[in-house]
Parts: sequence; structure tokens; C-alpha cells
Amino acid sequence: MGQARAHLLASLWAFYLILAISMVTGDLTNDLDILWGNSKVFYDNSGKQTISLTLDRWTTSAFRSKSTYLFSRIDMDIKLVAGDSAGTVTTLYMITEGLWQFHDEIDLEFLGNSTGEPYTLHTNLYARGKGGREKRYKLWFDPTADFHTYTIIWNQRNILILVDDKLIRQIKNNLMYSVPYPTYQPMRVYGSIWNADDWATMGGRVKTDWSQAPFTAYFRNYRAIACPPQQSSPLCGQSSGNWFNQELDVTRKQQLQEVDANYKIYDYCTDTKRFKDNLPKECTIN
Ligand SMILES: *[C@@H]1O[C@H](CO)[C@@H](O)[C@H](O)[C@H]1NC(C)=O
Repeated sequence: MGQARAHLLASLWAFYLILAISMVTGDLTNDLDILWGNSKVFYDNSGKQTISLTLDRWTTSAFRSKSTYLFSRIDMDIKLVAGDSAGTVTTLYMITEGLWQFHDEIDLEFLGNSTGEPYTLHTNLYARGKGGREKRYKLWFDPTADFHTYTIIWNQRNILILVDDKLIRQIKNNLMYSVPYPTYQPMRVYGSIWNADDWATMGGRVKTDWSQAPFTAYFRNYRAIACPPQQSSPLCGQSSGNWFNQELDVTRKQQLQEVDANYKIYDYCTDTKRFKDNLPKECTIN
């Protein structure tokens, strides 16, 4: 076999290998646009395509989905900023693009902490411009050591937030009690990293240590399933037999209870200091 031929075969083989890898993993840049900042798309040592978002004193970074969704299931694997991450906030969220005063938004915000101290997962919902539905959790693993899967399911019945397929929060559609719920404006998915040492760190008391910068978080394996509101689809459809749009089954209810008992560190529905005797309506239904 001639040298040229061997060389050709080798490069063909490399080409097929790359093709196979990209077909298996999917190309993130088909689905996501880098928005600004110091963001990189690269293949890591194991051949997995990854987006890194980096924060320093001068730069925040973000990406967003090319598509918008009206009801969806979004999955993303994230590895958070390691070491001293206090003051940094890494986010995965969905948001509408219409008038701000009527905007809808589903938030997962990972609040950094000092080295060895636990991250906080801050969750919130805005519907028709109204937010203030915060719940916060600690995680049962070190989210900086490896990738973990974070999921937002948004359908007609409820919004569900899962961590490694464990249900941590359910926000029910209580429109029938006039509690705002996102039902008619499409949302786009965003990931970002920014500095929030004015509020995230014990009310701003701990400041970001810029000598530790740059701070980098990693995202991979973006999966999005659009769920047309009028149509049944296996994961989100109104008439499907799948639990996503049904009452929660026993396993899922148990997961919620377990997380509430062991990992929930703040719940606006029990914050009587903040609301006095006027807890939001959705907190007192049932
Ligand atoms: C870091 O974690 C500790 C322990 O959970 C918590 O008390 C503290 O408020 C956190 N610090 C910051 C800066 O968020």
C-alpha cells in the first residue's frame, strides 16, 4: 500500500470518526447561539462538545437557543465554577421576548459560594410580569466536580424542575384561581454567567474575589423538546399517558417531599416575615 493511499485512508478514517462523534452527540451550535462575552465551543478530552462561559471583572458571557418554545422540555448538563465562586451566578433560564411588564420567565440560578461551601440553587417564576415566587435548594452532590442534568418541563398543567431526574419543584397552573401562569408567549432558553455580589451572597455581604478570576462554567448535551400546546406529544401532550402532563405519580410526589424535607432552604410560601398575613394566593390553595 502506497504512502499516499495509507494517508488517504487515515484521513478518511479520521473524518468518519469525527462524523460519528458529532452524530452521536449532536452539534450544540445547531441549537444554540453564543451571545457575547468569553464563550467557547470545544470538544473535551472525551470527545464531548462543550460550551464554556467565562466571567471576569470586565466580561459576562451567555448563549441562547435559536428556537423559541411554547411548552417544552429542556435538559442541560452543567458543571459549575469550581473553587471560590462566591458572588458568581451561573444561570439556565427561559424567557419571553414581548413587553417586559408582561414577561414570563422560568429561572434556575446557581449561586456560588466560598471554596468547599455549598452552592445554592435559586428558582423563580415570572408570569405576566409578576415574579416573587422564589424557592432555594442546596444540592446533594458537589455540582463543580462533574456534570449534572438540570431539567425544565413546562406544559399546560405545571412547571417541573428536576435535578438528575429527581423532581425538586412543581409549580402548578392555578390560572383558574387567577394566579398568573405562562400559557401563551413562547420562551427562549438562555445560559449565562454574571456577577451578583450585590445580592446573591448573603444579601451582598460577601464580595466576588476577582483575584480568583476568570470563573468558568461548562454546559453540554442540550436537549430540547418542543411541545405544541394543541397537540399531544409523548412527553408533554395533554392527552398522552405520560406523567409529565398528568398528576404526579407516587414516586414523583415522594421525590418532592424528600427534597422539601432535606434540601429546601427557602420557600416564599412560608416567608411570613415578608408577606405577613398576606401569603400569595397560590400558597394557600389546597
Ligand atoms: C455559603 O454556604 C453557607 C453554608 O450553607 C451559607 O451559610 C452561606 O450563606 C453561603 N455563603 C454565600 C456567600 O452564599
